Amino acid sequence: MGALDSIGQLCYLGCIRPTMNKQALAALLAAATDYISEDERPDLSEFIEYFLKEQSDVKINEWRGYRMWMGSSTETTRWAYENWMPWKNDVIIAAYAKTGTTWVRNIVSHLIYRQNPQAMEMYKNLHAFLVYLETGTPVKFEVLDKLPWKRRILATHIPAKLLNMKRIKGSGAKIICPIRNPKDQIVSWYNMAKKLPVPKNHELVKSLYPRTWEEFIEVYTQGQQPLASKVGEWYPDYLLSWYQHKEDENVLFVVYEDMKKDPVKEIQKIADFLDIPISESDLDEVVHETSFSTMRRQSAQIEKKLDFYRKGEVGDWKNHLTVAQSEMIDAKIQEKLGHTDLKFTYEP
Ligand code: PPS
Repeated sequence: MGALDSIGQLCYLGCIRPTMNKQALAALLAAATDYISEDERPDLSEFIEYFLKEQSDVKINEWRGYRMWMGSSTETTRWAYENWMPWKNDVIIAAYAKTGTTWVRNIVSHLIYRQNPQAMEMYKNLHAFLVYLETGTPVKFEVLDKLPWKRRILATHIPAKLLNMKRIKGSGAKIICPIRNPKDQIVSWYNMAKKLPVPKNHELVKSLYPRTWEEFIEVYTQGQQPLASKVGEWYPDYLLSWYQHKEDENVLFVVYEDMKKDPVKEIQKIADFLDIPISESDLDEVVHETSFSTMRRQSAQIEKKLDFYRKGEVGDWKNHLTVAQSEMIDAKIQEKLGHTDLKFTYEP
């Protein structure tokens, strides 16, 4: 198994960072940058040092009042806002945690690279901390610029307000925003958070990511967790920030539950949005290659360990939420999103 195939697609929620020693990290980056000629390859020693330091550091980083994900960088987020120049055919998957980020990234990668195995291989070798706009140090943008790809697939877990939307729109880059019903999202997030490779006994971790479901759901829905959010904000606030862009021609919303129900239709929609012609049989193949069972089967060791492809269902929340908890979420969602036409599908 290569250094990378373990984590190529995976974003460690709340902790988009490697947990490995210097050699392993260097090997991982070497595999990713191997596609750049030696004389062009950026020096990543400072990038490596940054991650080694970050690994042992549990703290909340804040920018413009937004408390960032653990593992994401205020400095890089700011740098990207001020300096990053997207390419005109870039695709950015902008998703809140556990709403279908990996699924949509995978769909888009199959649509774009399906006739180019080398590009697909290269994409798989890019760890999340290179692909997510808010992670690592700004030198990674040089890596992304120098890799020999014709069309890039990037990702982000931060709200639209922290991205330079004007510049992204002006560049022609396209953004896909997956959304998922908040009850399944919470269940998925809780199950992932329990398994994150973070120091579980650290006071900050204990208070922000409590072990019990009852406490977790309280802390989370009160907006106490730093998830690129201001105090008091959580998933609906993230959605609101993107909702303001729903009419932008470079932004497409896709709904997790719709993708489950009719993947052919939804993947065709994504292909159309990205101006990718696709035959019926190729489309069927993409549906197959990106189905939950295929992705789960092909997942890497670390993903299996984290139970990353846990259930992939609509309605699993019913196995976890009490009636009172379900009603509490309904009320909070109504309060935050009641004035919009955002409606969620809670049943399969
Ligand atoms: S992350 O860590 O934020 O990037 O997570 P994210 O990829 O957004 O969401 C993970 C959940 O999506 C499910 N998933 C899928 N569902 C259906 N079909 C496919 N192909 C698929 N791939 C991933 C994954 O299982 C997580 O949901 P749960 O409910 O926990 O199973």
